[in-house]
Amino acid sequence: MIFTTLLSLLTLALSTASTPVGPQQLVVVTPHITSPKAADVWTVGSIQNVTWETDNIPPGTRNFEGTLVLGFLTNYTDGRGHVAVSENLNNSSPLAQNFTIGTGHALVTVPNVPTRSNYIIVLFGDSGNASPQFKITRK
Ligand SMILES: *[C@@H]1O[C@H](CO)[C@@H](O)[C@H](O)[C@H]1NC(C)=O
Ligand SMILES: *[C@@H]1O[C@H](CO)[C@@H](O)[C@H](O)[C@H]1NC(C)=O
Ligand SMILES: *[C@@H]1O[C@H](CO)[C@@H](O)[C@H](O)[C@H]1NC(C)=O
Ligand SMILES: *[C@@H]1O[C@H](CO)[C@@H](O)[C@H](O)[C@H]1NC(C)=O
Repeated sequence: MIFTTLLSLLTLALSTASTPVGPQQLVVVTPHITSPKAADVWTVGSIQNVTWETDNIPPGTRNFEGTLVLGFLTNYTDGRGHVAVSENLNNSSPLAQNFTIGTGHALVTVPNVPTRSNYIIVLFGDSGNASPQFKITRK
């Protein structure tokens, strides 16, 4: 629940910052990310092809500008003592932008980040959709 709310808030913040908000923004597009997969290991500095399904993207939204952001999942305890999930998204340095979500893929260079097994990629079109957790290692 909190996870979803967090995503919505982030999406709202991003869409407000980038594209003009119009009636089209109400169409929810959540393309399923097909790469990276859960067992994948990426190496810092390598070039990777992030891919997502385009079958369910409505024709009117295929030209929406997409943004790919790297994050990692951590748990924290909120003010009421409930365990919640934080995505720790690096919104200030997107992995890719200026592509249309209808293309179904974007190439990214893996940034110089610490080794972790709980990285995620979030694709923002008019809605955010996260990949499974995967690993990035340093050479
Ligand atoms: C990236 O993946 C897409 C979808 O599978 C493919 O069409 C494209 O050729 C790939 N690009 C590279 C550089 O591998
Ligand atoms: C967060 O908590 C869930 C279950 O509450 C657990 O499965 C998961 O491994 C935890 N993740 C981290 C990064 O600690
Ligand atoms: C975001 O990514 C940039 C570029 O990789 C890095 O310099 C910066 O430290 C990252 N910020 C966070 C909060 O991880
Ligand atoms: C995105 O594309 C526009 C127009 O081509 C350009 O002005 C802008 O600088 C680009 N932004 C990034 C982050 O590449």
